[in-house]
Amino acid sequence: MADKLSKSQAKKRIHELIHIIEVNDRLYYVEDRPQITDHEYDLLFNELKALELEFPDLLQPHSPTQRVGGVPLDKFEKADHRLPMLSLQNGFSNDDLIAFDSRIKKFLSSDKDIEYFCEPKFDGLAIELIYEGGLLVRALTRGDGVTGEVVTSNIKTIQPIPLKINAKSSESVFEVRGETLILKKDFALLNDSQQEKGQNTFANPRNAAAGTIRQLDSRISASRPLQMFCYAPGVLSDVNVASQKDFLTMIQKLQLPCLDAGDLTAIKQTLSKIEKSKEPISFQSLLRMPLAAVCKNIDEAIEYYQLIHKTRHRLPFDIDGVVIKVNSFSLQEELGFVARSPRWALASKFEPERAQTFIKDIVVQVGRTGALTPVAVMEPVSVGGVIITHATLHNQDEIDRKDIRVGDTVLVHRAGDVIPEIIEVDLSKRKKGSTPFLLPLTCPTCHEKVVQPENEVVLRCVNPTCPSVVREGLKHFVSRRAMNIDKLGDKIIEQLCDADLIHAFSDLYLLKKESLLHLERQGEKSAQNIIDSIEASKHPTLARFIYALGIRFIGEQTARTLALRFGSIDKLIHATEEELLAVEDVGPKVTESLLQTLSKKSFLKEIDRLQKYGIKIQNPKTTKTASAESSLNGKNIVITGTLPMERNQIKDLIISLGGKSAGSVSKKTDYVLAGAEAGSKLDKAQELGIPILSWEEFQSLIDTNAKK
Ligand code: IVH
Repeated sequence: MADKLSKSQAKKRIHELIHIIEVNDRLYYVEDRPQITDHEYDLLFNELKALELEFPDLLQPHSPTQRVGGVPLDKFEKADHRLPMLSLQNGFSNDDLIAFDSRIKKFLSSDKDIEYFCEPKFDGLAIELIYEGGLLVRALTRGDGVTGEVVTSNIKTIQPIPLKINAKSSESVFEVRGETLILKKDFALLNDSQQEKGQNTFANPRNAAAGTIRQLDSRISASRPLQMFCYAPGVLSDVNVASQKDFLTMIQKLQLPCLDAGDLTAIKQTLSKIEKSKEPISFQSLLRMPLAAVCKNIDEAIEYYQLIHKTRHRLPFDIDGVVIKVNSFSLQEELGFVARSPRWALASKFEPERAQTFIKDIVVQVGRTGALTPVAVMEPVSVGGVIITHATLHNQDEIDRKDIRVGDTVLVHRAGDVIPEIIEVDLSKRKKGSTPFLLPLTCPTCHEKVVQPENEVVLRCVNPTCPSVVREGLKHFVSRRAMNIDKLGDKIIEQLCDADLIHAFSDLYLLKKESLLHLERQGEKSAQNIIDSIEASKHPTLARFIYALGIRFIGEQTARTLALRFGSIDKLIHATEEELLAVEDVGPKVTESLLQTLSKKSFLKEIDRLQKYGIKIQNPKTTKTASAESSLNGKNIVITGTLPMERNQIKDLIISLGGKSAGSVSKKTDYVLAGAEAGSKLDKAQELGIPILSWEEFQSLIDTNAKK
């Protein structure tokens, strides 16, 4: 670090650092186009932290360092809302929507069409953000509508929420309300990691979000993937907006996270994009694709409801209906309130998706980390148009709490719209002589004794060669965020294990097409695809490789941190306890798990074998130095068509080797990497005489580079 700064120099530098970090946070968390590396970011962040530590009185309330959580609280303080947070009238059918429109027209003594602003009804937790003089000073839960709990530190951990906004004066009060929630895909990852840590999993994203907001230890909230969508004003002391739509446009400009709005045509486009998308839509993209609509009249609002209803399970977050609001604020004022709800808004809810069924059996699955998970096998039943046959029962505590037994008649719903959950047992239908279900004391796969580690609710099989543990480990190894061998789905891994063709990660790299052809329902073409996608996985980044090994407590983020800190797998293998503990975010648990795993001869041999069979790990530091004279250095490679590796991953690879990858072909393009069904980009490349690479040619280009 530079020489000691004087106080005034420090003040200036702190100011500067906050600005740079804010800009980069926005690029990363909102716009999804980071411009600096994680490492560069960490350096800036650490510099800021160090200065704030040295000059505590220069600590700014809106400093990004305030997002990481602080001292745990004993309890939450309470505070009153300046304006009460009301509830909404509910409706359940088209008739209710038509009746709502008629009531409004009658109240206004008008038969003119009313313009409605329609939004999804987020199934999260309502929060009010309070900015004073532009600074986020408080965040409150809804509470009883009049008094809420002060959850500011937890809310500050939500990166897209600005800690400071533009304000007219230091007196300005700007209150904005919205919903905090966890996206479905983040929820799945969160539950995986909870399970891995031996902690309770959440039944659905809403519970997970609520549990996170109500965390007294904000450092835990900081580690959870909360998001927020803003949708309504509280007190706005010195701004004037005419409608719900204008309000949204204004908060969008203030960089508060909210849905974008459009007309019904735009909504249809968004929904069709969502339906077609193979990957879950990211939070960043959601901010830019219209999902809220300005509807000219109630008929359009009904159409909006139907469109959203049809696509609701594909949306990246849970919703339980749509909210329809009179768009004009002056009309809203005229309409006023009935009891505790505004006359100008209606929550048109979806019918709850529940059904009764019967538990045929409870089976026990063994996961990658050896955790035993009880799963109820049910008589198939349709819930909201989807047939449900299985529901996880989480752990023994959960089974005991709900007293779930084989043979019980139960009420199920699709928690979080995706994961079926048993709500309760219908005790009146319980069969005589049924007995409570108890998890086994030995592993159902390998029959070794299971253990219950201290402070954990789950039982574990700790036999590293347990076939279930190996199988699940393989599924993790090939998964999209790990080695990304996308043609090797769970089913094929199971078949390969059953056929005794693979017992370890490295066996994958010895697979021959001929052996695949012996598997059931495996044709020539798909066998070749599998071999190709295994081949294409041979250049993982170090972070991916570490993550793929499936070492307990090493999630993606920790793998990235370790990769950056140690730079190569050998250095990581030889890292000492002190070195590991010195890495930020690496605590005693991770350290112990790493040291334990990496001291096993069999594990190290496996890493050796992987490298011997062709894995070339892309090290973060060495690749950077290599890129100076690498064949990809400065080269612009445009990717088109279907290729055996995910496009973003190919891009990462190109960038890590010193190249870049633009979206369209121009004279500046050096190569076009063309896969199957390449379209206009390929035509353009041919027209401009730009060299075209096949996947194989591209790989040999990288190989040449790696050998340099
Ligand atoms: S507007 C006067 N818009 O619904 C209330 N609320 O039953 C204005 N909610 O507690 C609220 N999505 O948590 C509004 N797009 C949305 C919403 C929404 C969910 C929740 C909110 C509130 C509850 C009211």
